[in-house]
Amino acid sequence: MWGIELERQGEISLSRQIYQTLRDYIIDGRIKPGEALPSTRELAKQQSVSRNTVAESYEMLLAEGFVISRQGSPTRVVEGLRLEKTPALEQLKETMPQAQSFRADFKTGQPDLRCFPRYQWQQLFVKAFEKMPLNQLGYSGPEGLLSLREEIAAWLFRSKGLAVSSQDIFITAGATQTLHLIADLLSTEGREMLIEDPCHIGMLRALQGKGYSMRPVPVDALGLQTEYLDGKGACAVYVTPSHQFPLGGILPAKRRAALIRFARENNLYIVEDDYDSEFRYCGAPVSPLYSMDPQRVIYVGTFSKVLFPALRIGYVVLPQQLHSQWRYLRIHADVQNPPFEQAALAEYLHTRKLDRHVQQMRRVYGQRRHVLLQTLDETFGKAWHPWGDAAGLHLALEFPGMRFDNEFAQRGRNYGIRVTPVEYHSIRKGKHLDKLLIGYGHLEPDEIRNGILLLHDFMKENGQTPVTV
Ligand SMILES: Cc1ncc(COP(=O)(O)O)c(C=O)c1O
Repeated sequence: MWGIELERQGEISLSRQIYQTLRDYIIDGRIKPGEALPSTRELAKQQSVSRNTVAESYEMLLAEGFVISRQGSPTRVVEGLRLEKTPALEQLKETMPQAQSFRADFKTGQPDLRCFPRYQWQQLFVKAFEKMPLNQLGYSGPEGLLSLREEIAAWLFRSKGLAVSSQDIFITAGATQTLHLIADLLSTEGREMLIEDPCHIGMLRALQGKGYSMRPVPVDALGLQTEYLDGKGACAVYVTPSHQFPLGGILPAKRRAALIRFARENNLYIVEDDYDSEFRYCGAPVSPLYSMDPQRVIYVGTFSKVLFPALRIGYVVLPQQLHSQWRYLRIHADVQNPPFEQAALAEYLHTRKLDRHVQQMRRVYGQRRHVLLQTLDETFGKAWHPWGDAAGLHLALEFPGMRFDNEFAQRGRNYGIRVTPVEYHSIRKGKHLDKLLIGYGHLEPDEIRNGILLLHDFMKENGQTPVTV
């Protein structure tokens, strides 16, 4: 029973190894409640360690309440410590999804990380680290670094013509976190929200996870169909008007006006998620809805697409009446963003490096989109047509008469292709079964060409040969 296996050259001290083994025996019931542990002298002799080592182990057990010790009597195990076994870690591992590599990976929302200027960024980061004032290493406020907020205000103005004060901008850890906080922020206003259908399933889950009931509003090739808006009981409407995710439409002026009017009449907020509109290939980025009513629109921005997702920096532009509650919620959620990335990003914006990077990537992604459209034409003829505006990092395409469901996506995975049916992002199922999403931003032209040919072969093998019309 007391034969404890000790690793004498290990990193963990011998006393901790003895303590851990005895603690595990007590928890799994091998040492019974009330049972006496051997004397320190006895156990030290058995284990060929010093008596002090064992005494230290017993002290740890005593301090944490596993044993009691009275003068003159042996150290005994406390009652009520036995715990049933949980599933072994190995078993849990089996149920975790395994990372899979694909022969054609059309995952949506991926910028090309190979094009990110790592060296430039590294230099800015090191400089930011060296120059960071001491007070910024403490709790420096939930709003984010002022220099970054000012640079974002200037960037919004020069890239989208949006005039906002840096005072209205709050730095976040990306759009996903922003939505979590917005959900908390509006929870006193109601527990229902309207949302585009289809929409980004991750955003839907973020809001649902906060206990909101989400009411779908249908989307067509131009975005949200405002004639279906019904405001009863809702506190907000979530939209992607600059580039509807996933179908790609730009919300036309008439629908924008209708949406603002609807929000005013029903006294609700509009949450505008502007996730990738910087990448527009047939003209300048469209103007955010925010400019039409800054008191009612909450504008959500992110650097995940223009830079890289793991940066985890986004921002929200908030109507003034929400500022103080936002500060309160952010402090009590995760306090603030780390300052170094913020300072590096502020400098990246200040020196116009972001402008140049976006310009360059717009060219790169635009060419890739062109290759994609050309390859689709050559491969599928007239059996398909694109949806939405020429923007973003993915393309929605329709194959009339065909059916792409989650089973199709799974079979695709088994074949080595990752492709997302619009059905996956649909709340009301069955309305967009003939559409697929092809993420292309992260793929080289050859990867796009080979991937589409593979998709064609896969569809043919699955009896899904598109009909040329
Ligand atoms: C609609 C939409 N919003 C926001 C995001 C970005 O989220 P985050 O800033 O949390 O990376 C994405 C990413 O794919 C998206 O598709």
